[in-house]
Amino acid sequence: MDALESLKAEALKAIGNCSSVSDLQAIKSRYLGGGSQIIGLLKNLKNLPQEEKVVAGQQINTFKRTLEEEIGKRNKWLQNQERLKKLGDPIDPSLLTSYASETPLHPLTQTCQRIVSIFKRLGYSVVEGPEIETEWFCFDALNVPPNHPARAEKDTFFFQKNTKVGTTKKKADEAYLLRTQTSTVQIRSLGEHKPPFKVVSPGRVFRRDTVDATHNFNFHQVEGICVDQNISIVDLRGTLDFFVREFFGKNIKTRLRPSFFPFTEPSFEMDIFVEKLGKFHNTWIEVWGCGMVNPHVLGNAGLDPQEWQGFAFGFGVERLAMFLYGIEDIRRFYQNDTRFLSQF
Ligand code: DAH
Repeated sequence: MDALESLKAEALKAIGNCSSVSDLQAIKSRYLGGGSQIIGLLKNLKNLPQEEKVVAGQQINTFKRTLEEEIGKRNKWLQNQERLKKLGDPIDPSLLTSYASETPLHPLTQTCQRIVSIFKRLGYSVVEGPEIETEWFCFDALNVPPNHPARAEKDTFFFQKNTKVGTTKKKADEAYLLRTQTSTVQIRSLGEHKPPFKVVSPGRVFRRDTVDATHNFNFHQVEGICVDQNISIVDLRGTLDFFVREFFGKNIKTRLRPSFFPFTEPSFEMDIFVEKLGKFHNTWIEVWGCGMVNPHVLGNAGLDPQEWQGFAFGFGVERLAMFLYGIEDIRRFYQNDTRFLSQF
């Protein structure tokens, strides 16, 4: 059996030195294939006395298993090397990871895509805005007054006034901040597109909230804005009713309740009536805010409110995903627990 040990040493050395997948195949058939020494030994086992047969059988099996494992490992390593070679040298670590098509997407990504795809069917374009914003885009242009509580340091993450970040220009007395809402994209779109236009914008927002089952310091929203002539609440209602039915199902009732947002006038909360959805039974649940774009906001973007009107809405993506999938704790989305993630 010393012979087996030295055969193993020889084979392991050959595997370790092997530099291509095809050479590895040749090594495999040399040491484990039909004509190999080990198969000869196996065939010879029956001629040995019983006790020797047991010991030799175990040694042969260990030999085979060790070699198969080492060949498997080397094979993976070689394949990876060959893939890297094809990618070219040096590797660019800033390239996006390529996800294999069977990798499921995160439930929040799936929910965002589902929301956006419904609006695309209504002719909306998809735009994105920066996460680092100025006070103008996050508050002033949206008609949020200087003393509004959302602007307090205890609610919003501000950068120090003298910090230079991002590419967006700020005024000297302004601070950069992490946007607290995707409504910033209303202003950016009004500045960039000539009306009529309609866009939705998914993205991440940040608030200084204490983390619990329904709050997190960052979460996701999808904002929507439609600007055109002769737009009324009927258009807002029709659009959101269509969305609700596509997203939750056909027989869902909706209602608008008066509310307040500085950038819409009038403003509403939309509720949906659910017979059964997760923990909810026969009840109205509040789903999102919406309203007619405030004439001051149109004016801030240089549009004549006599000529143009619009409606806007803002969804919380986590909130919708929680309703849709019956998830009770927002923290599950961020914990990276594959037992949770693999269910989607
Ligand atoms: N930005 C609001 C929030 O974060 C949500 C919202 C309400 C957006 C009304 C809108 C709107 O566009 O019209 O709470």
